[in-house]
Amino acid sequence: MRLADRVVIVTGGAQGIGRAIAARLHEEGATIVVADLQGAEEAAAELGGLGLRVDVSSESDTEAMAAAALERYGRIDGLINNAGIYTSLVPKPFEEISVDEWRTVYDVNVMGMFLATRAVVPAMRSAGYGRIVNIASGTPYKGVPFLLHYVTSKGAVVTMTRAIAKEVAGDGILINTVAPGFTMSDGVVANPVQIEKLQEISLKARLIQRDQFPEDIVGAVAFFCSPDADFITGQSLVVDGGAYFN
Ligand SMILES: NC(=O)c1ccc[n+]([C@@H]2O[C@H](COP(=O)([O-])OP(=O)(O)OC[C@H]3O[C@@H](n4cnc5c(N)ncnc54)[C@H](O)[C@@H]3O)[C@@H](O)[C@H]2O)c1
Repeated sequence: MRLADRVVIVTGGAQGIGRAIAARLHEEGATIVVADLQGAEEAAAELGGLGLRVDVSSESDTEAMAAAALERYGRIDGLINNAGIYTSLVPKPFEEISVDEWRTVYDVNVMGMFLATRAVVPAMRSAGYGRIVNIASGTPYKGVPFLLHYVTSKGAVVTMTRAIAKEVAGDGILINTVAPGFTMSDGVVANPVQIEKLQEISLKARLIQRDQFPEDIVGAVAFFCSPDADFITGQSLVVDGGAYFN
């Protein structure tokens, strides 16, 4: 129960990796706020928490998210910036990515993370305590082709983590990145093109010879939220079965 009495918001927590993270943090004692475009209330109800319909790319939604969490629980100790556009994307040469698609990916994956973080930091600052974990991806480390908008958006997540770490460390707020490899989340499993193009190639590239599942990621996230990581900030941990080395 490393997270007893902590209140943690998980964006995109209604399914996939976010849902598994929410379940694990709850097991460790945290009260969970699920913030998602769909299914938030149902997912939160399973954990006895608060479900909020939130589009992280909306400034007003993210402000309302923080306000609702504070109103219900009086504190926000943690934020897991997990909501992202990935599983609906079809890999394609970068010349074929439209400006609209590029903007949509950046609005959610980069702007969404900025907005959700900006919304919760004032409460964390007043409390002198906060733990933020940003979900990036192994793709920017490897330079994965055919998903240029996605890969660069996740590179931005890594650099945002480092830069924000320097602005908030003095207020007791620590922020780190967890970067998963290709994971059999709900969204991936529902996308036959991704399975066809990426499952086998990802398996071959990793040292641990099996598929990666959402549950493989949750331990790293819980660690960064726990007192065991109280002297760690601005870091990135790649959790991908040994496909990438620093
Ligand atoms: N699955 C993978 O292979 C993989 C690998 C590395 C990183 N990731 C990252 O992990 C995170 C979760 O991915 P997943 O595979 O579980 O995806 P998923 O599609 O299964 O689930 C994503 C969840 O985020 C929610 N969401 C999407 N846009 C949102 C928005 N604008 N506001 C609020 N909620 C929103 C969706 O409704 C959904 O519940 C993403 O950031 C993704 O980029 C995934």
